[in-house]
Amino acid sequence: MSAYIVEGGNPLDGSVRVHGAKNSVLPILAACLLSPEECVIHNCPDLSDVTASLDILRHLGCRVARQGEMVTVDAGAPTGWDVPDNLMREMRSSVIFLGAVLGRMGRADLCAPGGCELGPRPIDLHLAAIRAMGAQIDESGGGLHCTGPLSGADIVLSIPSVGATENIMLAAAAARGTTTITNAAREPEIVDLQTFLRQLGADVRGAGSSVIVIRGGQALHGGEHTVIGDRIVAATYLTAAAAAGGQVEVTGVDYRHLSTVTAVLKEAGCAVKSGPDRVFLHSAPLRGVRPVRTAPYPGFPTDAQAPLMAALARGSGCTVFVENMFESRYRHVDELSRMGADIRVEGRVAVVYGVPRLHAAQVKASDLRGGAALVVAALGAEGESRITGLHHIDRGYQDLEGALSGLGARIRRV
Ligand code: UD1
Repeated sequence: MSAYIVEGGNPLDGSVRVHGAKNSVLPILAACLLSPEECVIHNCPDLSDVTASLDILRHLGCRVARQGEMVTVDAGAPTGWDVPDNLMREMRSSVIFLGAVLGRMGRADLCAPGGCELGPRPIDLHLAAIRAMGAQIDESGGGLHCTGPLSGADIVLSIPSVGATENIMLAAAAARGTTTITNAAREPEIVDLQTFLRQLGADVRGAGSSVIVIRGGQALHGGEHTVIGDRIVAATYLTAAAAAGGQVEVTGVDYRHLSTVTAVLKEAGCAVKSGPDRVFLHSAPLRGVRPVRTAPYPGFPTDAQAPLMAALARGSGCTVFVENMFESRYRHVDELSRMGADIRVEGRVAVVYGVPRLHAAQVKASDLRGGAALVVAALGAEGESRITGLHHIDRGYQDLEGALSGLGARIRRV
């Protein structure tokens, strides 16, 4: 079992480049399936979720090659329409293949993704939309057996779900007729997916706003695309510097994607400056801030909640967090408490009373961003912490220890 050994109390200093966004590259890899010609994806991070997506594409009969940060996918002659159980389980967001497989192959067999570490993660909105587009879905035996053909539809989402918006965009690009998504998610990763689909010749407009219109059925061709930088990885590096002290420059990310995170870090006392593709943070002793409420983009991202909480655990004053996106998203709290943090959780609310110092502890990651939060806290704690459960962290961070070591952190994987 691998673990991080983190010796806290060393300020960070230097510049670090973030890798491509996990949440962009996963739907983009699924989109490759829609094109009969080769697609080239640049800035593709080396993450276990990406490896699982590439395995799914191979299983479906695509030719896939990886060279460093460049991945090529040739879906010229796909042979399959099923995603086997083990691959579905390996990556919880594999439901993103539903729209693309159904769109390209006219049918799709997936096992229903179970609950996950963030609490129940329903896919009712995905299924209702695909049904509205004409698909038959048989949910018997724990599986999803879907058959087309698909046609355009007017879809109104009751929640601006990121995954449902992406699935509908993928299915709609292959469907006959026009699809309109109202109350679509507005995340930067949705815009990135639109950019890629347009690169392939799809007619998609409106991503980044609440209404997306897809004129389906265009003949698609190959394309080349560079994935946007990962705003959550950037947020993690910034909170790490806030927790450990020092000054860092984070590059390779659009600063506008981080505006709610940097606003809170400024309120907490840090000096933050932004340029088009970078953010610079100079840390200061942290103080509590006004309530942090997670919300769909452009609100405060739920994925940055845990790392920010870890930073604010050491400091003065008190901060209230309200987690509006997922249940069970405070599993890092017990572990932070082992390090001396004073945090009370009641339902969706967590109250963080800043303490003057955190101490090292043996802690265990139980989800991706909660795991990153433990690293952030350990960097600011006194002594040597040991963090296990690294397979969660590896789903979304490429060589986190290398990136932080480059900034002067004492962290190693054993
Ligand atoms: C995506 C991100 C994840 C991020 C989340 C919210 C990926 C791979 N993952 O997850 O990192 O934390 O957005 O920004 O991009 N919901 C339903 N029914 C559905 C779908 C969703 O009720 O059919 C609910 C969910 O339970 C949740 C809310 O909608 O409460 C938002 O979820 P959603 O935006 O779909 O998140 P994901 O796409 O799963």
